[in-house]
Amino acid sequence: MRTVLLGAPGSGKGTQGVVLSKKYNIPQISTGDLLRAAVAAGSELGKKAKSAMDAGALVSDDIVIGLIKERISQPDAKSGYILDGFPRNIPQAHALDGMLNELNQPLQCVVLLDVPFEELMQRLTGRRTCKDCGAIYNIHFSPTEVEGHCDRCNGELFQRADDNEDTIGNRLNVYQDQTAPLVEYYQQQQKLHSIAGTGDVEQITEAVGAIFDTI
Ligand code: AP5
Repeated sequence: MRTVLLGAPGSGKGTQGVVLSKKYNIPQISTGDLLRAAVAAGSELGKKAKSAMDAGALVSDDIVIGLIKERISQPDAKSGYILDGFPRNIPQAHALDGMLNELNQPLQCVVLLDVPFEELMQRLTGRRTCKDCGAIYNIHFSPTEVEGHCDRCNGELFQRADDNEDTIGNRLNVYQDQTAPLVEYYQQQQKLHSIAGTGDVEQITEAVGAIFDTI
């Protein structure tokens, strides 16, 4: 099952990706997570990516395409994956199509999580993530029982460096300019399914699952 979750920053790609990955037993592959891990490790790649990420701009295509190529060739991705945050512009989508066509394993579906722009800012400024298990919360929509601590593992919560209003503004502009054109790109390939990304998280998971089940 080779799929993409498409959507603006804060649309719920990560939240849904984690649950769907468990449900379908395929990895969620998030270029944002891979890049943040490289930054935290202080690797050469992380150093190159950091300034773009801090500014809310896109990291260079060469870097993210290289990361994806390496990741989807790993054994756990053999029976499929959920791409989260990739592709992010038309050149990345072309590169993905090229690499998958070479493998004779084209992408099967792209699900767009559609969330009104006004809600995205609140979701992103309110996001908190567990340092230990990566669980995602929101101080407005899904707060933890004990403030600052994860409900699942009691780990400390942190706020992502790029979840401040200035950087979020840039990320949303970048989405409109560079990522939104992918909607038409995948519509033309007849792979795009659009669903409302607002409301109950479980209902959204069911709606995405219903689409995955048709593959
Ligand atoms: P990345 O990590 O991909 O960030 P993003 O696309 O900005 O997406 P987010 O992770 O912010 O949001 P999400 O859709 O996953 O939402 P979430 O589920 O967390 O990228 C970060 C940076 O890395 C980029 O800016 C760029 O620099 C670089 N990068 C990454 N990929 C790249 C690429 N391919 N090319 C170049 N550069 C790249 O939810 C958000 C909040 O909303 C949470 O608090 C959650 O609890 C809440 N929420 C979720 N669902 C609901 C709901 N139904 N109702 C209410 N609240 C909800």
